[in-house]
Amino acid sequence: MERRKFIYNTAITAAASTLPLKGKWPSSQNEKLKVAIIGTGMRGQGHLDLLLRRDDCEVAAICDINEKMINRSKEIVKKHNATNPVIYDKGPEDYLRLLEKEDIDAVIIATPWRWHVPMAIASLKKNVYTGLEVSGAGSLDECWELVRASQASDGHLYFLENVCFRRDVMAVLNMVRQDMFGEIIHMECGYQHDLRGVKFNDGITPYNSGVEFGEKGYSEASWRTEHSVHRNGDLYPTHGIGPVSQYVNINRGNRITHLTSMASKSRGLHNYIVDHEKGGADHPNAKVEFALGDKVTTMLRTASGETIVLHHDTNLPRPYSLAFRVQGTKGIWMRDNQSIHIEGISASHRWEDAQPYLDKYDHPLWKKYEKRAVGAGHGGMDFFLIHSFVEHAKAGKNPPFDAYDAATWMAITPLSEMSIQKGSSSISMPDFTEGKWMDSKVTFALDDSY
Ligand SMILES: NC(=O)c1ccc[n+]([C@@H]2O[C@H](COP(=O)([O-])OP(=O)(O)OC[C@H]3O[C@@H](n4cnc5c(N)ncnc54)[C@H](O)[C@@H]3O)[C@@H](O)[C@H]2O)c1
Repeated sequence: MERRKFIYNTAITAAASTLPLKGKWPSSQNEKLKVAIIGTGMRGQGHLDLLLRRDDCEVAAICDINEKMINRSKEIVKKHNATNPVIYDKGPEDYLRLLEKEDIDAVIIATPWRWHVPMAIASLKKNVYTGLEVSGAGSLDECWELVRASQASDGHLYFLENVCFRRDVMAVLNMVRQDMFGEIIHMECGYQHDLRGVKFNDGITPYNSGVEFGEKGYSEASWRTEHSVHRNGDLYPTHGIGPVSQYVNINRGNRITHLTSMASKSRGLHNYIVDHEKGGADHPNAKVEFALGDKVTTMLRTASGETIVLHHDTNLPRPYSLAFRVQGTKGIWMRDNQSIHIEGISASHRWEDAQPYLDKYDHPLWKKYEKRAVGAGHGGMDFFLIHSFVEHAKAGKNPPFDAYDAATWMAITPLSEMSIQKGSSSISMPDFTEGKWMDSKVTFALDDSY
């Protein structure tokens, strides 16, 4: 216990003193942080709203290829009585013109997954503080390209993994750091969300049944379902692996060494189309063969000896759950049954309700900003993400989730595909840090600043 506390305290001191400073702001002449948003769909609009709630940010430009989404964004700008951003809507490459013409300090990229890496690289080349929405990678090469672009840039890559800021996830981080669970041995996490209907209803656009996707789909249905047609792996690993990486300091004294994945058969999406009132056995999409197994399970091991089970489960009827479980030599937390057991405190062999613990160990950041987070997306955690992004960009500071984290977490997608193709063979995780993980220090949520 003392050793853990020593490492943690040393990390705080080191983090405060060794951060390299790069990035444009506050050296830029702009009074406010000038931000551009590339991709103002449903997620980008959420970010737009949160940025415009602040008095230290100006959204100087937005870029999208969809007129409806641009119009919805303009409504948000109007609601806030904010300065009109310059609009870039001249096609899929128009973001390059935005990056060329606009004097911006930071950019947020919230486009479909295939655009993430090329857009982030283009932004980093302009030395802009770059916020990148979450996804899995298309290939391992993409992950390396992202790392190289970040290394060559005077900007930074901030990987926008909002679940790291979830209130219970942060309370458990607080407990882990106070040694409540002892030495961490095993964790579980994942993305378990029934996406068959990729439900969307804004009251203007007709309800999206999910039976139609691709060109006939709206928002995520227009691009996300295609991935399930062609790919069999963990398509969306970061909401699970991001938070648990904080519990065992991945890329900061620890690293993921290898993984193995297994996929079940694929039934959910096909059955949904056939059984839906807007589909049926004769619907053209009933002929689509989906590559994605309904349940993809990945097991990962770390250099420090912890194991992680990562779930991907998006095609079957089920309530939402990110499946968190944290287990150490002294106790266990399981989110799905809201339970905790701490040796020496809980009655022997008995579960306790986790909530009193989550309240007691509420992270200082949440205590400080709880009121400002009211109304922000995903139970308030999106406020913390944007707050952290803006404050790091203003200070030109290394983000808590950087290009090495993005590459490691996103690489799980192509690595899990490889493993499944090879009959669940063990596949090595590249060391994207090239050894730097051994000396890198923890910086995430060490205090209540941001
Ligand atoms: N962290 C979270 O909780 C969370 C939640 C939802 C979505 N996301 C992520 O955010 C991203 C966007 O998801 P979404 O739900 O907003 O999808 P969306 O389809 O509603 O939005 C994507 C937008 O990008 C635009 N676009 C596509 N190609 C473009 C290009 N070349 N240039 C400019 N704009 C382009 C589309 O027209 C669309 O408006 C995805 O990566 C998704 O995984 C994250």
